[in-house]
Amino acid sequence: MPIPDTDVISATAFDTLTPPAATDPYLAVDELPHSASSPDLVFQRLRDELALDGNPQLNLATFATTWMEPQARQLMADTAEKNLADRAEYPQITAMEERCVRMLARLWHAPHPELVRGCSTTGSSEAALLGGLALKRRWQQRRRAQGKDTARPNLVMGTNVQVCWKKFANYFEVEPRYVPVEPGRYHLTPDTLTAYCDDNTIGVVTVLGSTYDGSYEPVADICMALDGYQAATGTDIPVHVDGASGAMVAPFLDPGLMWDFQLERVASINTSGHKYGHVFPGLGWALWRDTRALPDDLVFDIDYLGGRSPSFTLNFSRPGAHIAAQYYTFLRYGFEGLHHLALRSRTAAHTLATRIRAIPPYELVTDGTQLPAFAFRLAPGTHGFTVHDVSHAMRTRGWHLPAYALPTPCHDISVLRLVVRTGFTTQLTDTFITDLAEVTRRLRPHQPVLAAKTPATA
Ligand SMILES: Cc1ncc(COP(=O)(O)O)c(C=O)c1O
Repeated sequence: MPIPDTDVISATAFDTLTPPAATDPYLAVDELPHSASSPDLVFQRLRDELALDGNPQLNLATFATTWMEPQARQLMADTAEKNLADRAEYPQITAMEERCVRMLARLWHAPHPELVRGCSTTGSSEAALLGGLALKRRWQQRRRAQGKDTARPNLVMGTNVQVCWKKFANYFEVEPRYVPVEPGRYHLTPDTLTAYCDDNTIGVVTVLGSTYDGSYEPVADICMALDGYQAATGTDIPVHVDGASGAMVAPFLDPGLMWDFQLERVASINTSGHKYGHVFPGLGWALWRDTRALPDDLVFDIDYLGGRSPSFTLNFSRPGAHIAAQYYTFLRYGFEGLHHLALRSRTAAHTLATRIRAIPPYELVTDGTQLPAFAFRLAPGTHGFTVHDVSHAMRTRGWHLPAYALPTPCHDISVLRLVVRTGFTTQLTDTFITDLAEVTRRLRPHQPVLAAKTPATA
């Protein structure tokens, strides 16, 4: 049967909003329908179904942006059909991408911004895979030049790294060497780090800040420990900073903190444009300090679709809309505006943490003074309910407050984590505290209810 053009479709009987019959094929279909349907009908069906999803404003689990200004949304809609791969066709999107890279290079204090190599990605996960790949290739080249084997590369990181680093190790066949966290300190520190390093270490990953509790890892101290290691052994181990959230928070709120390209050992940094870069999901950034940090043989010179351009990404076609939105947020807010947004979120996070500490039986694991995110737990003792019960009960009020176990070997401690993003108003803070206090009061005399475990993701 020929496919009808749009006019024909709208002229058919499908273009009605007659209520569906009970056997309507569009309800819960997992098979391609045989024939076309009215756009209005399908649109309404999908809208109705999507209404069952949670309210993004009440999602305290995600670091990803859930609010953008109407102008930024409009720009995204205007550029939805622009494919980043078509660089000759859309040179301005490419120019905007390059300008964003240069802005980030300066924001992260690259000593020679003109030497920085960088690209946009679909998120921090892709950026981390690229960062890890560059570390591996550099190590291979160095080993080969020394006439040594390249059979057993390893990457050193805390057990608190986000799953993207576990993927990197698995997909790219690098031994992950996890430095265990400790009770009361749930991220990588320099104390025992060098015991995990050797000649086969391609790099160390530090996280700013940790997905589990929002804490910053001490990047400068970690670099210093590796300086000492190099002095003792001659082995020079580069550092990659996973700044998925923190690389768009620390520059605005923690100017005295040394964590970026000011530290010579920091070879590369990633961030998520879709976290504290204030763009809807689908955007990350990866930057290398100079051409030495990103070996040439990883960069493809693509001569295709009418334009030549260097490419170092895992994808080819990608939305250009996110680039336009990122460039908008950079121009629209500027340094002061981004400072203001980050400060508002961090102040709200700290206020929430302080108020939660006053509700028995909660105690804070972190207090929202690094990332605008923090974790809290039930004070040691018997309470008759768990953090999973709290998470489950808060769901009934519409809040998505994840409960999960801390990283190995502290996995017997379970916490709740709360992330504050732009759009979390003072009124929402009050409502959240009222709901948490009420839910806790109701849970206390009861036995624990069974609740699904919520993983600590994005
Ligand atoms: C520290 C860290 N790294 C990487 C990621 C993955 O980021 P994305 O969702 O942008 O791929 C996250 C997500 O929360 C994260 O917190």
